[in-house]
Amino acid sequence: MTTAVLPITVTKISGSRISELDESNLGFGKIFSDHMFVADYKNGHWEKAEILPYGKIPFSPSSSMMHYGQAIFEGMKAYRNVNGEVFLFRPIANQKRLNISAIRMAMPVISEELFMDGLLQLVKTDSNWVPTTDGASLYIRPFLIATDEYIGVKPSDTYKFMIITSPVGKYYSEPVKVLVETNYIRAVEGGVGFVKASGNYGRSLYPAKLAQQKGYHQVIWTDARHHRYLEESGTMNVVFVIDGVLVTPPLGDTILAGITRDSVLTIARDWDIKVEERKISIDEIIEAHRNNTLQEAFGTGTAATIAPICLIGYEGVEYGLPALNSTSYSTRFGKELEGIRKGRIADRHNWMVKVC
Ligand code: COI
Repeated sequence: MTTAVLPITVTKISGSRISELDESNLGFGKIFSDHMFVADYKNGHWEKAEILPYGKIPFSPSSSMMHYGQAIFEGMKAYRNVNGEVFLFRPIANQKRLNISAIRMAMPVISEELFMDGLLQLVKTDSNWVPTTDGASLYIRPFLIATDEYIGVKPSDTYKFMIITSPVGKYYSEPVKVLVETNYIRAVEGGVGFVKASGNYGRSLYPAKLAQQKGYHQVIWTDARHHRYLEESGTMNVVFVIDGVLVTPPLGDTILAGITRDSVLTIARDWDIKVEERKISIDEIIEAHRNNTLQEAFGTGTAATIAPICLIGYEGVEYGLPALNSTSYSTRFGKELEGIRKGRIADRHNWMVKVC
């Protein structure tokens, strides 16, 4: 499927850490597999690719990503199916989105060949780190950073593209309580909200911390101009079910084109559920809550998968959502996606790519 553009040098770890892995206590993002992938960009092209033992890498204190934030990333997952085989979920969608981010951040793009070669070889090397438990997976974090030793402001001439992996369980262990944010903003028209830029996450931490101090898990961002239209929640896209219709904000400058979002909308259309990608104001949500047509709200994301929202806070009032059951949309989408990933349900859209 891929053509090797760069030979990948492999240096294996001398002693695997796999015996430290406790699948019953994975959490999210704190355990890292044995190896990592590193490619270097210099003189206008990618010129060195390696798989190395996971570990620290030296950076100059003047490295430009540390000063001006030329840093982007992706999030994706590998799953072990019921036959013990390892598959990636929609990896090309991540490669394409990484390049959309790269272009907006004046960084070099990464070919499908380099991305897939590095990814497949890394996940194959560490395939014994892909969990077997239902709901667990190997989270994969490709990222691209600027490495010029220069503190003038300009696009870097040198970069590192790296991939690290981490066996993970649930991102949220319970239904999520969200606070509608009407003071701080995440993204503006013409900005970088649609890009998976590290700075988008850094800027979200303080408002999220304030919301957490009030007992919420996350904020729901609103549009920068009116603070009325709902955009994203934390690291997730948001979907509402109003009177049997799936409603989600349309993609644009301020919304990340979530791959889980797209997968849920695709499944909904397969199931003849009406989908509307349009602006949704907080007033519409409150009105739907008042007249009992707000059936569900949930977040979608690679890390969070499908995260049901149980409470929405807005201007001092809390709007509770009905408890979920097996017929709830979020339950059904979650089951369908997990079924496809585990090989229990047919992969109608060819989303799964075999590693080994
Ligand atoms: C993902 O879902 O991959 C994300 O980007 C969330 C991550 C920041 C934890």
